[in-house]
Amino acid sequence: MPRAAGQGGRSSPKKTVNGESDFVVVANRLPVDLERLPDGTTTWKRSPGGLVTALEPILRRRHGAWIGWSGGVDDDDVDAEDEPILLEELRLHPVRLSSDDVEEYYEGFSNATLWPLYHDVIVKPLYHREWWDRYVAVNRRFAKAAARAAATGAVVWVQDYQLQLVPKMLRELRPDLTIGFFLHIPFPPVELFMQLPWRSEIVEGLLGADLVGFHLAGGAQNFLILARRLLGAPTSRASVGVRSRPGHVDLDDRTVRVGAFPISIDSAELDQKGRDRSIRRRAKEIRAEVGNPRKIMLGVDRLDYTKGIDVRLKAFAELLAEGRVKGDDTVLVQLATPSRERVDSYQKLREDIERQVGHINGEYAEVGHPVVHYLHRPIPRDELIAFFVASDVMLVTPLRDGMNLVAKEYVACRSDLGGALVLSEFTGAAAELQQAYQVNPHDTEGVKAGIEAALNQSPEEGRRRMRALRRQVLVHDVDRWARSFLDALTEGRPSNS
Ligand code: ADP
Ligand code: G6P
Repeated sequence: MPRAAGQGGRSSPKKTVNGESDFVVVANRLPVDLERLPDGTTTWKRSPGGLVTALEPILRRRHGAWIGWSGGVDDDDVDAEDEPILLEELRLHPVRLSSDDVEEYYEGFSNATLWPLYHDVIVKPLYHREWWDRYVAVNRRFAKAAARAAATGAVVWVQDYQLQLVPKMLRELRPDLTIGFFLHIPFPPVELFMQLPWRSEIVEGLLGADLVGFHLAGGAQNFLILARRLLGAPTSRASVGVRSRPGHVDLDDRTVRVGAFPISIDSAELDQKGRDRSIRRRAKEIRAEVGNPRKIMLGVDRLDYTKGIDVRLKAFAELLAEGRVKGDDTVLVQLATPSRERVDSYQKLREDIERQVGHINGEYAEVGHPVVHYLHRPIPRDELIAFFVASDVMLVTPLRDGMNLVAKEYVACRSDLGGALVLSEFTGAAAELQQAYQVNPHDTEGVKAGIEAALNQSPEEGRRRMRALRRQVLVHDVDRWARSFLDALTEGRPSNS
């Protein structure tokens, strides 16, 4: 993250002339949110979520341009061409969203239609025609911004579910570009995707890319089936391999490749941070601040109903009730970043989680000694790493998650081979992190058994598991992910473009 843009930091963005870029990322959000302070000045703050965590170091190293929304509302002239902003090594091209865009494109179609549909309909997706119309209009605005920023023959990499129509729109505007698309969330089973009234348009939108990437082979496979079924396009039938053997969809004039590329983190950086003396000192202080219990369990999430925060709270409450875990020697720290706070299902989730936390503390805490420490705010990066280092058991229990970078971050920080990871089978990370205590989040008894095993593991068993997990995470880092995607994207491309 830009240092000047850190928590509470200030910067004075420099304006620059409009230049053309050879490598362009298009994502709904810029890696930083522009915040207006009461005194009228502005400050940049790291944007939430795993997409930014993963892509920001890649863009910085490649000196690319990033097109995205700054997180604010701009009702003036949404089609105005703002000049790019240089923020350290990043060239940011803001796209404006009006209050109606935020309501219908971002909160509506992106986060109350697509998000729940793609996450196994944990909550019911809402289908509104006016939200769809707005999604089309805003995707067109992003496509135009990308067309303006990209140099002739540039590589443009479009990200995530908010922008699935951009590949096709951009190809129409700029046929000279090489266009990649990566989906950061799960791609749903065919029978769920078929609910979507605009299912063919979404598949057509994605097929504007030269390469469409998913975390897992299953997502790629689902997409190939849909291209055949909805558009009648011939496709490969062989199974897709991870980071290799992409499938393909044959269109009249070109072939689109479809592959699986599990995303990762800047593992070396986190490994380094986890060894840092001041972070280790802070980790000790954190243990003291929560009362030096025998065991600290930790949850770190955006406050989202996919994350299964309720699952771990329920399991913890039952373990306490049954006396299998003691409230006087074990605490749970839950750090939850506020997310999509105006969407109904998120408001309800917050109420539910806070009620559960209150219930557990009401039953099992002593004055001055809560058993659940709950913070509803983003935590500065180094402080978060200190929490990872301080904790004995990391609880990652989503009902569905495309990857879950938190699980990988925890492992990368534990060069001491301490700690244990309890990990839901329903995360993308579960395919790679086999030595975690894997649990089915729908099976409360299984989650309880996983937590108990992780709390009571022997030091040798813990080291054995953590060593194996670290081998996986340190080798398969985010650079390798980006390289494998971009190599596959540019394979066979004329070298002068
Ligand atoms: P998602 O992208 O759905 O939010 P991921 O686990 O893939 O989930 O990525 C979340 C990212 O946000 C990680 O880099 C994680 O460290 C960060 N994060 C999550 N919760 C917090 C928090 N409470 N404070 C600061 N950062 C957080
Ligand atoms: C997930 C999504 C991202 C999104 C992030 C934060 O990681 O895959 O596309 O940016 O959550 O969500 P928000 O709605 O705050 O951008």
